[in-house]
Amino acid sequence: MPQAGRDGSATPMIVEDWDALTFRVNRAAYRSPDVFAQERDNIWMRTWLYLGHESEIAEPNDFKVRTLAGRPLIFCRDTAGEVHAWLNSCPHRGTILCRESEGSNKLFQCFYHAWTFRNNGDVAAIPDDAAYEGSEGLRESMKLRSVPRLAIHEGYVFVSFNPDVPPLLEHLGDAADYMTMIEQQHVGGMTTTPGVQLYSVRGNWKLAVENAMDGYHFSPTHNTFVGYLRESGFAVTDDDQYAYNLGNGHGLLVLTGHGGRISMIWEPRFGEDEKLRTEEHRREMLERLGEQRAHYVADESHILFVFPNLLLFDIEGLSIRQLEPVSAGQTDVRAWQLVPRNEDPAARALRMKTVVSFVGPGGLATPDDIEAYEAVQRGIEATAGDVRAGLDYSDMSRGMVDEVKGVQGRSIDEGAMRGFWRHWVGAVGIERALQVSGERPAAFLEGRDVR
Ligand code: FES
Ligand SMILES: [Fe+2]
Repeated sequence: MPQAGRDGSATPMIVEDWDALTFRVNRAAYRSPDVFAQERDNIWMRTWLYLGHESEIAEPNDFKVRTLAGRPLIFCRDTAGEVHAWLNSCPHRGTILCRESEGSNKLFQCFYHAWTFRNNGDVAAIPDDAAYEGSEGLRESMKLRSVPRLAIHEGYVFVSFNPDVPPLLEHLGDAADYMTMIEQQHVGGMTTTPGVQLYSVRGNWKLAVENAMDGYHFSPTHNTFVGYLRESGFAVTDDDQYAYNLGNGHGLLVLTGHGGRISMIWEPRFGEDEKLRTEEHRREMLERLGEQRAHYVADESHILFVFPNLLLFDIEGLSIRQLEPVSAGQTDVRAWQLVPRNEDPAARALRMKTVVSFVGPGGLATPDDIEAYEAVQRGIEATAGDVRAGLDYSDMSRGMVDEVKGVQGRSIDEGAMRGFWRHWVGAVGIERALQVSGERPAAFLEGRDVR
């Protein structure tokens, strides 16, 4: 095992050993500003990034400001109803154009010299523009700048800073259908509720990805919640739950033993009224989707990671989470609740209560998870630059033997994480980033057949 430098530059990022069945990740990957810069250039500037949900800007003239890959953006619907992602930077001299976080507006006016733009990007007014007399095509060349690519799948709006990025559906691959499954949960589809939960984590973004794909931590880390579920009469189990690599860095956990799902799987803590609503809803789904599809949509909880910045928690309730790396050791997380568009008010109230009490930033799960990845970020300082070979690496070998046998990995193993890291190491563009010894399986299991 090679020796890791503090910045990891002299050592491989990933060391796979198929004789010893070990998979190790260089901790510099979480710590190094150089790695962070490479990720910005080679991942965040090249692939599709989740921007927001269409329902957040439901009406013409609605806008939200966002930051993706450190770039300030305006996510808006123009007066004619078209969705845009504008760079939130005045074409004149670069000032932040929109300084509100959200609202409804036909025009954006820059405070610096008061140039004004329509929400379709056109220049509306330039004060004292007689001074530009003879400047050919000024208004045309000073339109708002858009993010080069924007595409929408099932209401999820993605953008790319890479004009040559492959089509969105190609990138989403098998992940696309899990987004469709969410949309199919209810007649009329899904919408976000107003408001966003924003929190900042002192940890690298990849720790948030690992945590979401890590069923192994559930019982020990969330023991308060597990105890609560058991006390309320729900049998908690890790049996028959699997972790899938969906390709392109995307991952999926399929969970069936960690608690109920509002309107899908009833459990006692949801109350008697919800039991009746669930039965009724399941009858309707069966009729609309057929037995097989209704089973996948209703009976399984899914935690879906869409590389690199989107997490969909389709568990007790539905939560969209977006990761925005700020630096190697800092990540901003935004979360929205996704709810059925047409929902009984009592069911909605129960859903909101359940969602905030588990995956919300003050819920029974999320603070535990944040504590875990902040503790990792602090803990890995202990080995930074350690001269002893192989010490500055984290282990993700759990369940590797299944990959040799070609057997589907369990949710309590680390196969989904390895899938993520293998994609990452191919994408990040660091020289000699991957070191493999022993005989690698001819192909890794990828995707999942749900039809
Ligand atoms: S920088 Fe915006 S108007 Fe001058
Ligand atoms: Fe967790």
